[in-house]
Parts: sequence; C-alpha cells; structure tokens
Amino acid sequence: MNSFIIPKQAARLAVLQRIELANPFLLKIRKLFGRYIFSNLVTKYFLNANSIGKKYYETMLNEFLTLEKFIEQNHKSILSIGAGLGGLEIIINQKYNDKTFFFIERNYVSKKVKYGWDSSNNEAYNDLKVQKEFLTLNQMDHKKINIFDYDHDILPEFKFDLVISLLSLDYHYDFQIYQNYLKKISNTDTLIIFDTIRADYFKKIFKSVETIRTDINTVHKSKRIICRGFLT
Ligand SMILES: C[S@@+](CC[C@H](N)C(=O)[O-])C[C@H]1O[C@@H](n2cnc3c(N)ncnc32)[C@H](O)[C@@H]1O
Repeated sequence: MNSFIIPKQAARLAVLQRIELANPFLLKIRKLFGRYIFSNLVTKYFLNANSIGKKYYETMLNEFLTLEKFIEQNHKSILSIGAGLGGLEIIINQKYNDKTFFFIERNYVSKKVKYGWDSSNNEAYNDLKVQKEFLTLNQMDHKKINIFDYDHDILPEFKFDLVISLLSLDYHYDFQIYQNYLKKISNTDTLIIFDTIRADYFKKIFKSVETIRTDINTVHKSKRIICRGFLT
C-alpha cells in the first residue's frame, strides 16, 4: 500500500484536518476567497481524491516513523484523541495487526475552519460515518474500531496502554478539557503522546516529559511530547 483508498467526502475532511494536503493552487484559492468558501465549496467540489489519498498516506507514514519506536508489543489498546480520519491508525494496524483502536472525535465540520488555539473548543472537522467507512476501506477490521463522539457519547473508561493525539489535544484546545479523563484511563506505564506549544508546562503535570519532535517551521512552533505518570 502506498496510498489510501479515499472517497471524495473523506478527501474533503482530510484536507480540512491537514491543510498541507491541499496543493498550492487550492491554497491560493483559500487566500483569495477566504476560509468559508474554501471549507464549504472548494473542498466539496474541486479536490482530486486520488492525489489526496497518496499525499495523506505519505504524511501519515512520516508521522508513524516519529512514533514507531514507542509502540510496543504489549500495547494492545490505543486511544486516539482527535485522530481525524485515522490514517495514522491504519498504518499502525498494517504494521502490527494486533491492536484495537478507540477513537474520540467529533461529528461536525465547523462553518469556517480556523486552525488557531480555541479555548472554547468549538472547532471540529470530522464525520464519524465517513471516518468508519474510511477505516474499513483501508483494511481495518470493523471489530477493532471503536468510535466515540466527544459531544454525545459516554467515553471508554478502562486503562489504555497508549494515547495518541496529533495536532489536536493542547494544539488546538486546552489539555485541561481531557486532564481528569486521562487520569482515569491511564496508569504509570501509559504513554500519552501529543503536540503542544508549551512543553515545559507539562513538567508540572507528569513525572516524565520527553520531546520527540520539534516543529519550528509551522505557525504553532509546536513540540511533540511523550508523557508518563500524572504527578497528582
Ligand atoms: C487538525 S485535526 C488533526 C487530525 C489528525 N490528528 C491528524 O494529525 O491529521 C484536529 C482534529 O481534532 C478534532 N477535535 C476537535 N475537538 C476535539 C475534541 N474535544 N475531542 C476530540 N477530537 C477533537 C477535530 O475534529 C479534528 O479532526
């Protein structure tokens, strides 16, 4: 596999979740006509799903390579917060095939997709039906897929081995929103990996905080950190 199978509706979501998948022409259109037209018209009718499937796959493969050495044999259940369509999880599934995936996501697309820090956490760009279809189309067995709607479902409450949140938790919205929940579903061995612009802040929250990647060329200038063990 060197590309995802991606229907048009999913390709639109992928571009909204990962703006770097849009080609320079689309980015110019976004600049000219604004985010509303881009999110609601351009991404609906003017995308080439095949090329987005390929680019999304390459992007997620690169993300996987930053995380690969932290994914262990005994990590059986993975919790992904704000995984978007779940391209990364498809790649993890291909490589290991013995993991079960729990996704916490949202089931709507904001009218004007903004990529800033949103303390009220109103921004979302997903459709859970499209996500499930995308995962199964790309060979993730439906028995391994558990999707929870952050706004409406009771979230899973057992201990996870690995929690992953790329460009979502503490990148677009405050870690605090999930802090108590993460305490409940983790133990001292659970690895919690996410992107943040304030890595040092987490030294007061976790026993161990390790930076595994630094992005200085993005607007957010974020760090990817891996945290273990809540201090209190
Ligand atoms: C920038 S996208 C990143 C998607 C994916 N992690 C990636 O790296 O391609 C952020 C995702 O977080 C989701 N999101 C927003 N608020 C959330 C929340 N409270 N819980 C879970 N997901 C959330 C959005 O719907 C969106 O899919």
